[in-house]
Amino acid sequence: MTTEESKIDISILSSWLEKKKPVTVLDVRPKTEREEWSIPGSVHADVYDKLKAGDTNALDHIELNIGIPVVTVCAAGKTSLKAAELLKDKGFEVYSLEGGMKAWNFAWSTAEVVLNDVKIIQIRRSSKGVLSYIIGSDDEAIVIDAALDSHVYLDLANKNGWTIKYVTDTHIHADYLSRTRELAKASIATHVLIDAANVEYGYSPVSNGDYLHFGKAALEVIYTPGHTMESTSFRLGDDAIFTGDTLFVDGVGRPDLKADQDEAIKRSRLLYASLQRLLTLNPKTFVLPAHLATAVPFDGKLISETIENLKDKLDMLKLKESEFVKYTTSRIPPTPPNYLTIASLNKQGSYDGHIPADLEAGANRCAIA
Ligand SMILES: [Fe+2]
Repeated sequence: MTTEESKIDISILSSWLEKKKPVTVLDVRPKTEREEWSIPGSVHADVYDKLKAGDTNALDHIELNIGIPVVTVCAAGKTSLKAAELLKDKGFEVYSLEGGMKAWNFAWSTAEVVLNDVKIIQIRRSSKGVLSYIIGSDDEAIVIDAALDSHVYLDLANKNGWTIKYVTDTHIHADYLSRTRELAKASIATHVLIDAANVEYGYSPVSNGDYLHFGKAALEVIYTPGHTMESTSFRLGDDAIFTGDTLFVDGVGRPDLKADQDEAIKRSRLLYASLQRLLTLNPKTFVLPAHLATAVPFDGKLISETIENLKDKLDMLKLKESEFVKYTTSRIPPTPPNYLTIASLNKQGSYDGHIPADLEAGANRCAIA
C-alpha cells in the first residue's frame, strides 16, 4: 500500500458514517485538542507525542476491533499517516483522513422534513454544529445561513427542481464565514437582510412583519434582537420558525459578543423580549436553529424541538426578566480568538485573503446552556 492508497478524504468518511458502515475513527491528537472538537463516535488514543517522536510501539496498547477498518485522524493529516502505517503493520485495513480536522471542518450531511408541502432541508456542518437551511415550495426555494460552498445549495436546489429566490442570514455570524453573499452571486437569488443589519455591502432590506414569498409558501420576518442587534427569525406559518442563534434546542444565544457589561445586559433584556415573543407562537411550531452545541452526528435526524417542548425542557425560559439577565450574563463562555475577526469579515461581506479552514477551526461558542 502506498501513502496515497492509505488516505481517504472527508467526503468518503462522511458517506461511510452516513451509511453506518462499520468503521473505527481513531483520533490521535493531544487530549486538549480533542476536547475542543472531535468527530462524532470517534475514539481517542493519547499517543500524539509518541507518534511525533517516531515511537513504533506507540499503538501497541490500543485495543481496536479486528476486522473493522480504521480511519486515523489528527489535526492536519500527517501524524495520522504515521498511525495508519503502524496499524497497517499490525494487519488492519487502515486509512488516514486527508487534511485531518482542518479538512473535517467542512464535512456535512443533511436531514429533512416536509411540512404542509414545504420541504425543509437542514444542512449540517458536523464539526462546528452549524446548521443552514434550504426551504422549497413548488419550484422556488429560500436559503438561510449558507455556511458551505455555493455548489452545495445549488446542487440541492437542482436535485429538487428549485430555483433559489432569496438568500439571507439570521444575523452576522461570528463563528463561521457566511457564504450567503457568494451564493447570491452564484445564483439569481435576491440577498435580503433585516433593515437593522449594519453591514458594509449592498442588500435588499426587509422589516419586521414582511413576508418572503416562494412557491406557494412564505416566510414571515420576525425581528428578534438580543444575541446580536440584527438577529432575525423567519417563520413558516404555524409549522416552523428558523431562529438563528436566538433560540436553540438546548439553550439560547449569548448576548455579549463585542459587548461590554452594560451592552451585554441591554442585549440580554432584548433577548428576553425576543424569546417571550417566540414562546407565544403556536406550541406545535418546530424551532429550527442555526447551531447545535455539539458536533452533529451523521444520523439524518432533524435537529429541532417544538416550542412546547422547549418551554418544558429549558428552565431558563421560565425565568423572569431580571433572573434571565442575571443568568445569561453570568454564564457567558469565553470568546474564541477568531470570533471578532470572523464577525468583522462577515460585516464586510468578503474574506478575500483569509483561509476559511484556519479561521473557522474549532467548535462554536454561540450558546448559553
Ligand atoms: Fe451567532
